[in-house]
Amino acid sequence: MKKIAVLTSGGDAPGMNTAIRAVVRRGIHKGLDVFGVVNGYKGLIEGDFTPMSLGSVGDIIHRGGTILKTSRCEEFKDTIVQQQAIQILRENEIEGLIVIGGDGSFRGARKLTELGFPTVGIPGSIDNDIAGTDYSIGFDTAVNTAVQAIDKIRDTAFSHERTYVIEVMGRGAGDIALWAGVCGGAESIIIPEADYDLEDVIDRIKQGHQRGKRHSIIVVAEGVGKGLQMGKEIQEKTGFETKVTILGHIQRGGSPSAYDRMMSSQMGALAVDLLMEGKKGVMVGVKSGQLTFTTFVEVEKGRHTIDLSIYELARSLSI
Ligand code: F6P
Repeated sequence: MKKIAVLTSGGDAPGMNTAIRAVVRRGIHKGLDVFGVVNGYKGLIEGDFTPMSLGSVGDIIHRGGTILKTSRCEEFKDTIVQQQAIQILRENEIEGLIVIGGDGSFRGARKLTELGFPTVGIPGSIDNDIAGTDYSIGFDTAVNTAVQAIDKIRDTAFSHERTYVIEVMGRGAGDIALWAGVCGGAESIIIPEADYDLEDVIDRIKQGHQRGKRHSIIVVAEGVGKGLQMGKEIQEKTGFETKVTILGHIQRGGSPSAYDRMMSSQMGALAVDLLMEGKKGVMVGVKSGQLTFTTFVEVEKGRHTIDLSIYELARSLSI
C-alpha cells in the first residue's frame, strides 16, 4: 500500500483534527502518501482530494471542527455513486480510505469495502452513541462544555432562585445528559434510555424546596426533547420560576480536551496500522480501556448501551 486518503463525515466533533493529524503523521512515518478528502463523501464523489504533508497538520491538534470539512451526504447511499467513488479513488491511485465519523458514515464505508475498496473507521461523535466502542471522539470535550455551561447557569439560578431545564445534545443517546447531569449536580436527569415521570421530577424539586433549596437544575437529553414544554409544566406545577436553556451547537465546537486528543491520536495511528496490515471493513475503538477493532457489520448490528448504574448513582446523590 502506497497511498491512502482520510475524510471526516457527519456531525463534526472536537478531536477530529487530532485524529486527522495522527492519520497523516502515522501514514507518512510508515512511508505512505496521505491525501485528505475535502467535505466528506460529497468531496469523495467530486474527487476533491488534497495532498497532506507533515506541515499541513501542524497547529491543528488543539483546534475544534475539522480542517477537512464535513457533510451529511444522502447521495452516497446509492450503490452507483459508491462505485463512482471507488473509480475516482482508483484513478488517483489511492488504495485505502480512513473514515472519521459516526454510524451513518460507517454504513458508507462498509459499502465501499463490500464493493472491493478497503476502508477503516474511526468513531467520532459527541453523542458517544456508536456500538462497538465504549468511546467516540468528541464526547469528553462536549461533556466538559455542557458542565461549564451548567456551572454558569447554576450561578444565576442561585441568585434568582429559579429552576432551570437545560437541554443538551444527544439525538438518540443520553450519554452527554447523564455525564453532564452527574458532573453538574443536576437534581434530575432525563435520558431516552430510562423511563421518566415528570411528576417525580416535580416532587424532587418540591422536596428540595421544603428543606430550603431555592434553585434546581434539570438536565434533559435532546433525544427526549420537550425541554420547553417540561419547563412550562414544572413552573405551572411548582409555582417556581422556571427557565429553559438549550445548549445546542456550542457542544460541538471548542478545543478538544486532553482525553479526546489522546484517544484521537491512538485511534488515528491504529487505523493506519490496520489498513497497512490488510484489515478492512473495521472500525477502531476502545473497550474496557483497551484499543480494539470491530467489523462495520457488527457495529451496525450492535447497539450502544449506556451505563445505567451512573443513572442510579445520580438519583441517589441528588436527593
Ligand atoms: O450527532 C451529533 C449531533 O450533534 C446530535 O447530538 C444532534 O442531534 C445532531 O448532531 C445535530 O446535527 P446537525 O448539526 O446536522 O443539525
